[in-house]
Amino acid sequence: MTTETKTPEAKPAYSPGLAGVIAGETEICWVDPNAGLGYRGYDIHEMAEKANFEEVAYLLLKGELPTVQQLEEFSQALAAERALPKEVLEMMRLLPKKTHPMDMLRTGYSMLAPFDPDLNDHSHDANIRKAIRLIAKTTTLIADGQRIQHGENPLPERPELKMAGNLFYKLNGEVPQDWKIRMMDTIFILYADHEFNASTFAARVTAATLADMYAAVTSACGTLKGPLHGGANEESMKMLDDIKTPDRAESWMMDALAKKAKIMGFGHRVYKAGDSRVPIMREIARDLGKRVGKEDWVPICEKLEATMEREKKLCANVDLYAAPVFTMLKFPPELNTPIFAASRVAGWCAHVVEQQDHNRLIRPRSLYTGPAARPYKTPSRSNGA
Ligand SMILES: CC(C)(COP(=O)(O)OP(=O)(O)OC[C@H]1O[C@@H](n2cnc3c(N)ncnc32)[C@H](O)[C@@H]1OP(=O)(O)O)[C@@H](O)C(=O)NCCC(=O)NCCS
Repeated sequence: MTTETKTPEAKPAYSPGLAGVIAGETEICWVDPNAGLGYRGYDIHEMAEKANFEEVAYLLLKGELPTVQQLEEFSQALAAERALPKEVLEMMRLLPKKTHPMDMLRTGYSMLAPFDPDLNDHSHDANIRKAIRLIAKTTTLIADGQRIQHGENPLPERPELKMAGNLFYKLNGEVPQDWKIRMMDTIFILYADHEFNASTFAARVTAATLADMYAAVTSACGTLKGPLHGGANEESMKMLDDIKTPDRAESWMMDALAKKAKIMGFGHRVYKAGDSRVPIMREIARDLGKRVGKEDWVPICEKLEATMEREKKLCANVDLYAAPVFTMLKFPPELNTPIFAASRVAGWCAHVVEQQDHNRLIRPRSLYTGPAARPYKTPSRSNGA
């Protein structure tokens, strides 16, 4: 920068936090601000009722629903890629015992990269092969990591199980009842993609430099951890644990709002008329509450929803109800965000494939607000300095 006079740049349009900015095109997913969500044109409500996660992952990656045979082959390919290299298991043993599972997952993604023979091949077919490996290995990183942290050995793979059943089995050695597997499948479908959310955008920015898919997914995983994004489902549970009973919910919320606190599980950058996923997750929470004899969580959440609507006109997001659902499914709260990642990795990978199939570097401008140009002065030096 010199001090000579230059014509100032015209002041560009600026939207803090990129709110409302269209940062790219996608054929994968549409978030409708009026409480809708579609995966490649299919309504999420219909998918949640009728599809399974493997079908949704296939759709996101390949653009069309699979035939029965294609789904079978894709499910088998996923199951065959679940096992981790022994070096990655060893790395997880070396991490401090207090490592958060999201940090373990992020480190796992990064370490898996050099083991992938297609790492630096960004062709469409190689990217699909890497996507299958990344989706398959995510639940293994989570479950094996969790067992290792608690002094237990990872369990052998059960390739006949689909991802939802396999996650339960790999964590505790038991294959759950069918209804539980179906519920988990629905949760995975709800979380699988959400167009240019922060973690997916991070993945696309990384992929747009032509860095590899593992680099992109590592960026995405780091981004998902934050409580304003995926980390909200762990934080929401702390809030619900603190409230404890429905009769305390309204006063808890009023106190928190008076302190200008951010209430986890509420608000959304795009949805202004409700989060499309909330009604399904609320019903799962209600159903699960009846089955496990814990029917207080939904009334607590509903009381919070009514108070927030009255006070700030803000809607609940999916993480409010996901938190008690994960608790009732007996997952420890620190696994809430990794479970979100186990599903969203399908979306991240689909977006990386799309980005690199039609790539252009993502490089926005910033609005400079620092000092005006000024002359450099050589620092005066004292003797002996
Ligand atoms: C999701 C989120 C980051 C969106 O942020 P955003 O689009 O930048 O919205 P803003 O933070 O500008 O919020 C607009 C207004 O609503 C308020 N608001 C938004 N979410 C709020 C929340 N969860 N609790 C309290 N107030 C909230 C803001 O304080 C702001 O009020 P103001 O205009 O009086 O200052 C935000 O709603 C949030 O932090 N939610 C909690 C975390 C969460 O649940 N994340 C998961 C998202 S799926």
